[in-house]
Amino acid sequence: MSDELRDLAVRLATTAAESAYRSRLEGVEVADLKSSPTDVVTAADRATEAYLRAELARLRPADGFFGEEEGRSDSGDRGSGLTWVVDPIDGTVNYLYQLPAWAVSVAVVEGPVGAGGHTLAGCVAAPAAHEVYAAAADQGATRNGQRLHLEPKHDLATALIGTGFSYSAERRTEQAELVARLIGQVRDIRRIGAASLDLCAVAAGRLDGYYESGLHPWDHAAGSLVVREAGGTVGGGPHGEHEDATFLLAANAGLYPPLSAAVGAAGA
Ligand code: IPD
Repeated sequence: MSDELRDLAVRLATTAAESAYRSRLEGVEVADLKSSPTDVVTAADRATEAYLRAELARLRPADGFFGEEEGRSDSGDRGSGLTWVVDPIDGTVNYLYQLPAWAVSVAVVEGPVGAGGHTLAGCVAAPAAHEVYAAAADQGATRNGQRLHLEPKHDLATALIGTGFSYSAERRTEQAELVARLIGQVRDIRRIGAASLDLCAVAAGRLDGYYESGLHPWDHAAGSLVVREAGGTVGGGPHGEHEDATFLLAANAGLYPPLSAAVGAAGA
């Protein structure tokens, strides 16, 4: 079943991503501000989520839906136990500035979204980078149809690490403190600006590891499956006040233990 769900995730994510890409060529409209003045939502975020919500309601009426912009909807008693978890545009600030690192992220989770749930399939479609990542549980991960497979690496001192920053100024200060502690222990640190693509970069060996505090399921559900199915390790735990917020750590399997130790209690 997970390969059929993956194929649907790929079809929907790539269609939605191409539409958002064409829309960006015509311009961009900031529709609203969310948690802070830096946290924007564009008209394309809303239109993309509305498209995916409507298509999934039509094609998979027994499944629930959990999107970044409009939250949750479920099918009540008719529920299948599956939920589609969607970030309509991950990397919204990159999209705003026409930087190519943005993606439509679509995952389908069996059971609760978050702890105890099991991601069956996912797709991260990045049209401005001409890349589509896909994975199905126990069936591997691909980039543009090519299988991804990580060889173990162990040396933290030569590891390239990605991270991200939340929209809260207070949390950014904590995140900057962790960057300051880590930067002397690794090769370098990158901030790509889209959590789903940070995770896909780990799966593709373009980053050796990635961590971020305060992520939500829509940021990482699809990308985490891509990492695991490429042979990497993903872990973490609750972080912050929001019930869905997580400290997420993903890495090449050999680097996960030393990176986990280096970020240490910051993840607790
Ligand atoms: C954000 C991006 C960013 C990460 C933030 C996310 P959005 O998602 O993934 O890289 O650092 O934590 O909120 O707002 O662009 O969908």
